Amino acid sequence: MKNIVLIGFMGTGKTSTGRLLASRLGCAFVDTDQKVEEEAQMSVGEIFARYGEPHFRALEAAVVQQVARSRQTVISTGGGVVLQPENMRALRERGAIVALTASVDTILERTSRRHARPLLEQEDRRQTVEALLSERRELYRQADLMISTDGITPLQAANQIINFIRKGGV
Ligand code: S3P
Repeated sequence: MKNIVLIGFMGTGKTSTGRLLASRLGCAFVDTDQKVEEEAQMSVGEIFARYGEPHFRALEAAVVQQVARSRQTVISTGGGVVLQPENMRALRERGAIVALTASVDTILERTSRRHARPLLEQEDRRQTVEALLSERRELYRQADLMISTDGITPLQAANQIINFIRKGGV
């Protein structure tokens, strides 16, 4: 099996779906944000606050190059991984790309629970989400499969991906 790479905006459920998917498939799971945090020994929020977004993007790109070489692994990515074409090129080499999507309302609701997303720490969160989404929507469309996660659980999303794999999509 190829790697399964989950891309998508913040709050679309990449990490929880990825974890469940890996356990259902009996394969390894890796999350690029988590790996960046382990390597930097700092949270994503701290990296942004202390060194800024470009530094985070450089750490993220290095982690992507590393995890893209895995085999039989579910790779969950940070929402901005699609911004650097070389990230997607590396991930695609051994992976099928699955994009998780969600409406602005769903994203706002899911991301309101945890304050770990520096890009959304703005006064007008709705406007911020809409602006980022309009910059990125086309990039998320590069996926081999797109799943709307509005109103479904991570387990249901994982099952949709498993059906896709069984039908030979991967
Ligand atoms: C980001 C998404 C975050 C994290 C960082 C930047 C983005 O990951 O990588 O805060 O640019 O969309 P999640 O999508 O897992 O929240």
